[in-house]
This record gives sequence, structure tokens and C-alpha cells, in this order.
Amino acid sequence: MDSITLATPDDWHLHLRDGAAMADIVDHSARQFGRAVVMPNLKPPVTTTAAALEYRGRILAALPEGARFEPLMALYLTDATPAEEIRRAAEAPEIIGFKLYPAGATTHSEAGVTGIEKIHWALEALERHGVPLLVHGEVTDPDVDIFDREARFIESVLEPLVRRFPALRIVLEHVTTKEGVEFVQSCGPRVGATITAHHLLYNRNALLTGGIRPHHYCLPVLKRESHRQALVAAATSGDAHFFLGTDSAPHARPQKESACGCAGCYTALTAMELYALAFERAGALHMLERFASHNGADFYGIPRNGGTLTLHRTTWQVPETLAFGPERLVPAMAGESLTWRASRRSG
Ligand code: NCD
Ligand code: ZN
Repeated sequence: MDSITLATPDDWHLHLRDGAAMADIVDHSARQFGRAVVMPNLKPPVTTTAAALEYRGRILAALPEGARFEPLMALYLTDATPAEEIRRAAEAPEIIGFKLYPAGATTHSEAGVTGIEKIHWALEALERHGVPLLVHGEVTDPDVDIFDREARFIESVLEPLVRRFPALRIVLEHVTTKEGVEFVQSCGPRVGATITAHHLLYNRNALLTGGIRPHHYCLPVLKRESHRQALVAAATSGDAHFFLGTDSAPHARPQKESACGCAGCYTALTAMELYALAFERAGALHMLERFASHNGADFYGIPRNGGTLTLHRTTWQVPETLAFGPERLVPAMAGESLTWRASRRSG
């Protein structure tokens, strides 16, 4: 097969940052995706509909002339999110949901939720208004091994939450474990999960073999091979619970290549090429469209995109670095060869 054409895909989990850095990268996503759920973990976090609409305006203003890309904004849930804010978000079509960061779980999560019991009323309001909850699914207890934090979150937080709020729509973002996959599969269609390209392609050896590899460090951290295989099986199965979310999370090179490097992999530049590689290795390229272009829109109850994206078989080299405001950014697979190249046709 020399090319494969899909309905225009969407990225259901993306970090775009802000300002000059955002302006340098946003087109990478717009070249591949019709829409993206834009994460709210800016500094300060995007906690209100008003702030999200302003941020959305800055994203649209940074797009090149003629780009067709729709940012779907997620709001940052805190212990103190007012009920009024949930109602406002529910009424704004530009807002797709609320993101739950357990405080301290990941980059810029300090303002996150310090205990699930503190937001019960907010969860009730989300359920009542039909607003999805997007979850970073890791416990933050320092006594829990970092490789076990997702599995522990599922049993101690997510499972009770799904039971207690029977109509709440929930996305387990960037699922990385067999336990996560099995839990989501055991739920009805109101629970879904995004899967990143890097968790489909790499296991934790990629982080620690031949030296420490900071550009493979992200949260949730890469897991062992059996978990990667469970993710590939879920993504390529066609199961409507699972959809594409890159979790592309750019950090400037000095912040990655550091004694205390930031978490996040920059995959947006080559997102569909990386997913195609993972699906091809699994012999499942024919299942890519469901995962990338159908399941997410169906979960959120919004129309699938018009237009198409074609992946052509051709060998090309990923740049070593990219512009990122005043700094440089190292993309996933920097300097390596890829065997697919994506090109989008708006519809
Ligand atoms: C993300 C970031 O840098 O904003 N980092 C990451 O490793 N994925 C935050 C997140 O989604 O956890
Ligand atoms: Zn993320």
C-alpha cells in the first residue's frame, strides 16, 4: 500500500502553550488535525470560560491564513471551581469539558484538585449539565511507585467515581496500562480513553537504555512492554472506547535536557506518521481511521470531520530541532527517518 486516506482526524488531547512558543507550533497540529482538545495547564491555569475563550482567540490568531483548525477548550478544575463556572462552560459550545489534574501529578498541576471528595458537588454539576470530565489518571501519593500510579488511581479513585456518578461522561486521558485498558473496556460508552503515539511505540526501555533519554520522559511515564502491547491491542481493535490523543507537550530543549527535566514529548509535528507506524507494525492500518477520525467525535457527540488526510509512503527525516519562541524544541524521533508522510485536504 503506497497511501492511505482517512477522514480528517482529531487530536483529543493537546498542549499548545501560549505566546510566541504557541505561535511557532500550532500549525503543526493544524496541518494534521481538524480539531484538538486544548489542555488548560497554562500558568496561570485556564479556570474560567472567559479565560478559555480569550486563549482560544489567541490560538486562532496564531494560525496561518486559511488554516482550518478548531480548538476545543478544556477548563482546569480546581477545589474552588464555582458552580456558576460549570453552568457557563456548559452553555459555551467552544468548551468541551473540564480537566481534572490531581494536584502535583504532572506539569503545571499545582493548582489541581487536592482530594476527590472536595469536588463532589462539581462532579454532580458536570453530570447534571452533561459536561465531560477529562482525567489525568494518576495518584500523587509519594509512597506509590511511579509505575503503579495509574493502576492505583483506577482502583482507588476512578472506579468509585464512575459508580457514584452514573451519567457522568469521563475520559481517562493518555491511558498507559493494561489495567487502564481493561477498566475502560468494562465500562459503558460514557467512559472513554485517549492513547498517545509514544505510548503505542515505546516501552520504558526507551527511557533508560544506552543512557537516560529525556525526550522520552513524559507523564504518565512509559511502562513495560506488556502494557504497550495492551495499548496497541486496544487502539487497533476498533473498540469505540479508545481514540487518538497525542498529549503532545512541548518543552524547550534546556528544560528537557536538564538535571531535573520536564515531562512531555513533542509529537505534534509527526503525529499521524507516528500513529501510522504503530498501526502498521500491528498489521492494522485499516483500523487507523476509526481510532483517529471516528471514535472521539462519536464519544463527544459531535459530527465527524469532513475533508481527508492522506498518508503517503515515503522516507523523510524528522528535523533535529524546531523553533519554539526564543528557544528550540526537540521533536519526537528527531533526526530519524519516518516512512509515512501526512498531508491534509480540508473539506
Ligand atoms: C504535560 C505537559 O507538559 O503539559 N506533560 C506530559 O508529560 N504529558 C502534562 C500532562 O499531560 O501530564
Ligand atoms: Zn497532557
